[in-house]
Order: sequence, then C-alpha cells, then structure tokens
Amino acid sequence: MAKQVVVVDHPLIQHKLTLMRQREQSTAGFRQLLREISLLLAYEVTRDLPLTTMEIKTPLQPMLAPVLAGKKLCFISILRAGNGLLDGMLDLCPSARVGHVGLYRDPETLAAVEYYFKVPQDLNERLVIVVDPMLATANSVNAALTRIKSAGAVNIKFVCLVAAPEGIATVSEAHPDVQVYTAAVDDCLNDHGYILPGLGDAGDRLYGTK
Ligand code: PRP
Ligand code: URA
Repeated sequence: MAKQVVVVDHPLIQHKLTLMRQREQSTAGFRQLLREISLLLAYEVTRDLPLTTMEIKTPLQPMLAPVLAGKKLCFISILRAGNGLLDGMLDLCPSARVGHVGLYRDPETLAAVEYYFKVPQDLNERLVIVVDPMLATANSVNAALTRIKSAGAVNIKFVCLVAAPEGIATVSEAHPDVQVYTAAVDDCLNDHGYILPGLGDAGDRLYGTK
C-alpha cells in the first residue's frame, strides 16, 4: 500500500459499510449510513489539525485551553455522490468553506467529463479536503485534483469510502502529494470500471436514480 494511503478500519465504519453494500439496502438507509460514516471519516482526516491555546474561565478557575489554530478548512465535493459525504463532514466542521466539482464518467471511455466548477478563492490558505465515496479508475479524482491545484490549492487530502487498488495506484502516481483516506480497499475493477465487490453506483444508490 502506498505510504500516502490511510485505511480507516474503525469497527463502526466497517459495520456501516457492510450495511451500505447490501443490494437490499434502501435509498434512505444508504444515505443515512453514508452520513454517519462521513462523521467518522471527518474525525480521522482532521486528526492533524494544529491547536493553539486560549484563556478561558471554567466555573472554578481560569485555564489555558486548546482550540483549533485557525487552519482554515475547505471541503470540495465531487458531484454527485461526493455530496453524500459532504453533509456529515459539515455537521462536524460547520464553518468550513465548500467547493463543488461536477464530473461524470463517460460510460464508454470512463474519462471524467467536467460540467461544473466552483471553489472558494483563497484555496491556497486552506486545508482542502476533497470528498467522493468511490475511487475506481481514479479518472474523476485525478481530474478534480488537477483542477483544484490550478485554482491554487497546495494542501490537499482526499477522502473516499471504497477504493480499488488500480485507482489507488493511479492517483498516488499522479498526485503523490495528496494523502488518501479510505474505509476499504476492494479487490479490483470489472470491465466497466466498477469496483468489485464494491457497492454499485454510489450516485444512483444515494439518490435512487436507478
Ligand atoms: C462515480 C463516483 C466517482 C467516480 C469514480 O461518479 O462518485 O466520482 O464514479 O470513478 P472513477 O474513479 O473511475 O473516475 P459518476 O461518474 O458515476 O457520477 P455521479 O456521482 O454523478 O453519479
Ligand atoms: N463509480 C461508482 O459509483 N461505483 C463504482 O464501482 C465505480 C465508479
């Protein structure tokens, strides 16, 4: 496994992911589970945020208490399915800025096609956390990362839920500076670029479009 990849194997995440994978899981259940997992992934991806101290008074005495050192956060969701991870992350970090990159995979070539791009202007001053549940061929995340870097981002992490080994190798080579967090590394891709065993099409399952 590439050095830059963190597999978040917390038992709660693993259990919830198994419930998500099951074909009989409802749209509502899938969405709720993804939201719950995203809170746990957010906890892990923000683990290194720097702290400073501020003087406060407890009911008993003053103290120097730890607070976040003002490292500014930006979440960037790769549409559509990224939004399923975004909501839970915003619950935990409500003042983070948010960007969106709209991409879909061409079903024939599996190339990423961009249809939307909107990110905050001061990306160079922020820790940028890009979110998308699926890392398959890595065409989507690679295209998103290239765009986000040209918009100024220099400090970037990528959070997904399920990754294929092929996708991990490809994104690690194209963007070695980006740390990748995933809850699972599955077996392989099928001939249509779907992750096996995977969970199917994340966007369709999240929004009930198939
Ligand atoms: C899915 C997923 C990723 C992409 C991963 O999106 O959410 O963005 O596929 O595949 P890749 O690593 O091979 O690029 P999809 O293109 O189905 O779009 P959607 O989220 O709008 O359904
Ligand atoms: N996109 C998905 O939503 N699922 C896969 O398995 C691969 C790409």
